[in-house]
This record gives sequence, structure tokens and C-alpha cells, in this order.
Amino acid sequence: MTSEVNSAQAEWWNDAGKGWARAQDIVDLVLRPFQDLLVEAARARPREQVLDVGCGTGAVTRAIAEATGARCVGVDISESMLVAAREHGKAEFVRADAQVHRFEESFGLIVSRFGVMFFDDPIAAFANLLRATTPDGELCFITWRTPEENPFMTTATRAAASLLPDAPAPDPDAPGPFALADATKTRRILEQAGWSGIDISAVDRICTMPEALLEPYLSNLGPISRALKEAEDPAEILARVRGAFDEFVHGDEVRVPGACWQVTASNPL
Ligand SMILES: C[S@@+](CC[C@H](N)C(=O)[O-])C[C@H]1O[C@@H](n2cnc3c(N)ncnc32)[C@H](O)[C@@H]1O
Repeated sequence: MTSEVNSAQAEWWNDAGKGWARAQDIVDLVLRPFQDLLVEAARARPREQVLDVGCGTGAVTRAIAEATGARCVGVDISESMLVAAREHGKAEFVRADAQVHRFEESFGLIVSRFGVMFFDDPIAAFANLLRATTPDGELCFITWRTPEENPFMTTATRAAASLLPDAPAPDPDAPGPFALADATKTRRILEQAGWSGIDISAVDRICTMPEALLEPYLSNLGPISRALKEAEDPAEILARVRGAFDEFVHGDEVRVPGACWQVTASNPL
């Protein structure tokens, strides 16, 4: 890796990435509607080279490579995510901090599914990504709207807080899943980074998984998985918090509303 400024995030995602890698099939199933949005966006903007930022285990990178035939590169700060991504082939994966990495090539399209909310200096990061685009280059990413609009995630945070009452409350302005929830702030960040033609549109999708996968999901991902790591009897604790998610269970299926922004922008050159 050339250089890294987000070392706390690198450490965090190296650890969290192990759970994501274990549960990657579940994550990809649950987040599939947002993968489909980005594949559709890539089909509408045929480009030779596509960069997927914060690609994680690489499902979106691979899906765009398969759907468009473009050369697709995934960049991620977490080695544990990339180990899993590289197992599948079909795309190239680079370990780097996307905020500062000097990309050696230019990309006609930069995409991201929930991978651009973790920069300590988002203006610098989006300016760096702009430098990595071709003159006709475009940016298209999906990011979460507010916690209130994403009740599955707030339920997980509340359930974890009941297990770790001393944990500090999440700071909405700090790098994290909701760092770009405020569309006005996101537009300002992108403008200051030099992007033009900015469009921020609400997209709502229902994410689903079989009920049998809910406990493996909760124990590998998000705030509950972190709380369970410190527990003496994780199975007992999981059974205790599982009831908080009943409202999302419909028969043998879990249905989770996902409230997001689809953000597009273009290189002003
Ligand atoms: C919520 S996960 C999303 C992963 C993947 N895009 C997906 O949808 O499955 C966020 C990803 O962003 C990566 N990430 C966080 N900060 C980064 C940075 N500065 N540069 C590159 N990747 C970063 C994390 O390592 C993690 O894999």
C-alpha cells in the first residue's frame, strides 16, 4: 500500500472484515438490490475501466465486470476483506486507502456500495477520486440515509447498547455508515472536491434473507457482533437480543427496509 491516513478505519475494517468474509454470502444476498442498482448504472455508462471504492469482498466489482465486460478494479483498505475478494477472480483488487492512494490509471466510472462513508477527510478523498477519473468520468455510489429511516440498523445499535451500556453513543458526523446521510452536506463535500453535475436521489429497497440466516448475520456483522466478542456465552446473549428483530420477520423471511441515496456526479473537464 502506498500510504494510508485512515489507519483507525484500516484497523477496524481488518477486524470487522473477518466477520464480513465469513458471512459474505448473506451480506451479498441482503444488499443485492443495491448491487443491482450499481450494475444498472454501469450498464448505462459503458466504460473501459471501472473502480469500486471500499469494495469489501468484491461482489459489486465482479457483478459489474460480468455484466459489462469492463476491466474492474476494487480498492479497499481492509486486507481481510480483500483476501475473500481475491478468492473469486473475475476482477482485480488493490489494498489502498482510497483517500490518498495515487491511482496509476484513470477510470471512466467510479462506483461504491456503502464504501465511501469512512474517510476522515471526505473532501480530500472525493478530490483524490476525481483525479483518478477520465475527462468523461463519472461517479455513482449508494450510501445510507438517516438511522431513523433504517430501523434494522438502529435496532442493532440499540440491542448492542443494551449489551455494552458503557459504549459511547455513535457520532453522526464521524466516519461511519451514516456520515453521508445528510444530502446537503454530501452535495457540499462533492462540490468542494471539484465534482459537477451532482444528483442525489432517494432509493428505497426491501432487503430480504431467509429467517434462518438472521442469527448468523447478527453474530458476524455490525454492532451486535462486536458486543458478542466480549461475551462469555455469545449464544445465550444472541438469543436474548434476537427478539428485538421480530418486527422484521415475516414467516420464514426477514424483510428489512433499506433507505439510501444514490449519488451521481461527473468530472467537470
Ligand atoms: C460497509 S463495507 C462495504 C463493502 C462492499 N462495498 C459491500 O457493499 O459489500 C465498507 C468498506 O469500505 C472499506 N473502506 C473503509 N475506509 C476505506 C478507505 N479509506 N479506503 C478504501 N476502503 C475503505 C472497508 O474496509 C469496507 O470493506
